[in-house]
Amino acid sequence: MMNGYSIALPDAVRQSIREDLPEVDLISKQSLREQCIDAWAIALSFSSFKRVRDLPGEAIPGTLLLKEGGQDLHLRGVTKLALGYVDYFAAAFPLADIDRDIVIAGGLCHDVGKTFECDPENQQRWNKDGSRFGWPSLRHPIYGAHICLLAGLPEEVAHIAASHSPEGDNVKRSLECVVIHEADVAWWRIAAASGLVQPESLPPDFAKMFHQRSERRG
Ligand SMILES: [Fe+2]
Ligand SMILES: [Fe+2]
Repeated sequence: MMNGYSIALPDAVRQSIREDLPEVDLISKQSLREQCIDAWAIALSFSSFKRVRDLPGEAIPGTLLLKEGGQDLHLRGVTKLALGYVDYFAAAFPLADIDRDIVIAGGLCHDVGKTFECDPENQQRWNKDGSRFGWPSLRHPIYGAHICLLAGLPEEVAHIAASHSPEGDNVKRSLECVVIHEADVAWWRIAAASGLVQPESLPPDFAKMFHQRSERRG
């Protein structure tokens, strides 16, 4: 299958994305569903990863490394937590007007740029000469926004990729981006506090907030 930019996207890769990110089927608008799959297929095609679940389960390389499981668990978890927020507000406050489709697409694509930032081949190049390339040259939010736009995703989703992280502190986040930002932070904090993260990969700001549950038991 080809997208609007004539990038070859093999059907087998698209099928693997559906398998690894089944929440894509919760998106009601078919074109948005296909654009999310396109975004991941394009990102994978430019990386050394074969499928979504091959990406390591880490926040950034070497930081908050899951003891078990890959990046698919994080993407799916953030999407489900975010949907929990959306559905709660919709039920409790009829006036709440959060775009469910954009939240799902944003949850599934917010870290699509990790195909670049977490790619061992890129890290090797940056480690060799960070003074030339930068370290990293592009963090995943920036590269992710590029991929989203390349895949034809609406700017609301590209904005979530670009601004779900501290990069978003430089702008005013959209409502849907606020939802994903909060779900993303919550997912990592709860995963870490639950003892699901390798202790040596905890950044100092996490380590000072809590003891991991498994540490207490040990
Ligand atoms: Fe991220
Ligand atoms: Fe994330």
